[in-house]
Amino acid sequence: MNPRTLLMHQIMLSDRTRLAAYDEALAATVRPGDVVADVGAGTLVLGLMALRHGAGHVYAIEGDPETAELATRIARDNDVADRVTVVQGDARVARLERKADVVVAELMGNLGPEEEMVEILAAFTRRNLAPGGRIVPERLRTMLAPVEFDGEGWGVWSQPVHGLRFSAVMDYVASAAQLHFFQRTPWVLGDPAVVADARLAERARPLGGEHHVEVRTGGTLHAVVGSFQAVLAPGVELANFPGYPGCNWACWVWPVRHIEVAAGDTLKMALRPPRDSARLAENWTMDVGLARESVRS
Ligand SMILES: C[S@@+](CC[C@H](N)C(=O)[O-])C[C@H]1O[C@@H](n2cnc3c(N)ncnc32)[C@H](O)[C@@H]1O
Repeated sequence: MNPRTLLMHQIMLSDRTRLAAYDEALAATVRPGDVVADVGAGTLVLGLMALRHGAGHVYAIEGDPETAELATRIARDNDVADRVTVVQGDARVARLERKADVVVAELMGNLGPEEEMVEILAAFTRRNLAPGGRIVPERLRTMLAPVEFDGEGWGVWSQPVHGLRFSAVMDYVASAAQLHFFQRTPWVLGDPAVVADARLAERARPLGGEHHVEVRTGGTLHAVVGSFQAVLAPGVELANFPGYPGCNWACWVWPVRHIEVAAGDTLKMALRPPRDSARLAENWTMDVGLARESVRS
């Protein structure tokens, strides 16, 4: 098995906040005897949780053949082989022998949409969700927030580091995204813009055009942070910004030249997926512009 695949599952199983949120959402969603479809089942962790919460049967749909084999063994090791059917194949074309009362999936990318959860679940639920069926998560949003770093990441270039100046780097600002795990939460300079808001099972809609964010707190704009917020069930949310200990998702960071901004300034932002490699968050780009209160009046 590809060591990277195993490492990915290792990291995801170590993210306790992620697991606790899914467990809470499944406890609220699964009813006794439900048929549950675990889409992109991986190690089957979400399917096993669903069984604990009373599911009668779990269909585990997994595209990677070796991972599907592993899921079969894990079902056996947990003494639930008779209540789990592993279906190896692409969930977009899978057709189950029974309709699912609940569909659960965890296919969120750093920005939200890169792993195509909206597209995959739209195609899967069209064929396999029973009328009135439920989906975990129900909703996936992508947010953009203007930030000032607290002496780390892209923020170090205009601040003294050990009393030394490195601001020459600002002349080499590259239009390229970075993925970042925050050591300290950055200051958010304005209310984040919601640039995508999808109900799962709906068809994916293209990202909206330009979004405006009003600066609420003056400071130095270092970057725009892109992140996701998933509503797993009513009142149960999972988000990768500002992050939490053990969070397995990095935040997407779009560096900008460090500029002073004041309350009342407006930032104009447009997020752009790459044409051919939307699965790689590093390849997403954005445009950022600043409109000054003084310029407008
Ligand atoms: C992010 S992992 C989540 C694994 C597991 N559900 C969990 O929460 O730990 C996504 C899994 O979905 C599988 N996957 C991705 N796209 C798929 C597709 N279109 N059909 C079936 N499986 C898919 C991947 O191979 C991977 O094992």
